[in-house]
Amino acid sequence: MRNLWAYLVYCLALLLLTACTTGGVSSTVVFNGTPAPPLPDLDPNQVKNGAELYASLCSACHGEKLEGQPNWKEPLPDGSLPAPPHDNSGHTWHHPDDLLIEIILQGGGPLYGGTMPGFAEQIDRAQAEAILAYLKSFWGEEERRFQWWLTATQPGSLDN
Ligand code: HEC
Repeated sequence: MRNLWAYLVYCLALLLLTACTTGGVSSTVVFNGTPAPPLPDLDPNQVKNGAELYASLCSACHGEKLEGQPNWKEPLPDGSLPAPPHDNSGHTWHHPDDLLIEIILQGGGPLYGGTMPGFAEQIDRAQAEAILAYLKSFWGEEERRFQWWLTATQPGSLDN
């Protein structure tokens, strides 16, 4: 009799465990039917290096707090666009890593006729990645998950 109870308790525990695990899986972020790959943690040293580079190379246009230029969605008189913000309110997190690194190194000209200067002569790819890590440190969990999903599933895409 005692063994039967032990068995029942064991079954119940197993059932609860399965229910909990399944609950966990279904709460995974899914975009377009494809689950987002696990989000890697940001490397604090990389973020710190990126912060220094950002302050000296990018903040003059994109803002000290990544806030971008005022009315960044409105074209300027010459038809070019102001520098957009890089925080959640902008669209940096709508693009995969590869594309962002390319914009940082080559500028906005080759990709979409923009005025953003390229930095390939001043920084290497690892430094561009450090700046990107710094930008990511401002994003919310959802933005980061979405951007990581894009990076894993649609590298190079300009469409988001
Ligand atoms: C002289 C001003 C200027 C500087 C300096 C500058 N940018 Fe930009 N950036 C722009 C403008 C303007 C755009 C809008 C697109 C275009 O016109 O090319 C832009 C667009 C971008 C974009 C694409 C839009 C987006 O959010 O996805 C990224 C990424 C970016 N900049 C990152 C950087 C980084 C990182 C630095 C520093 C290494 C930097 N920019 C320095 C002006 C600047």
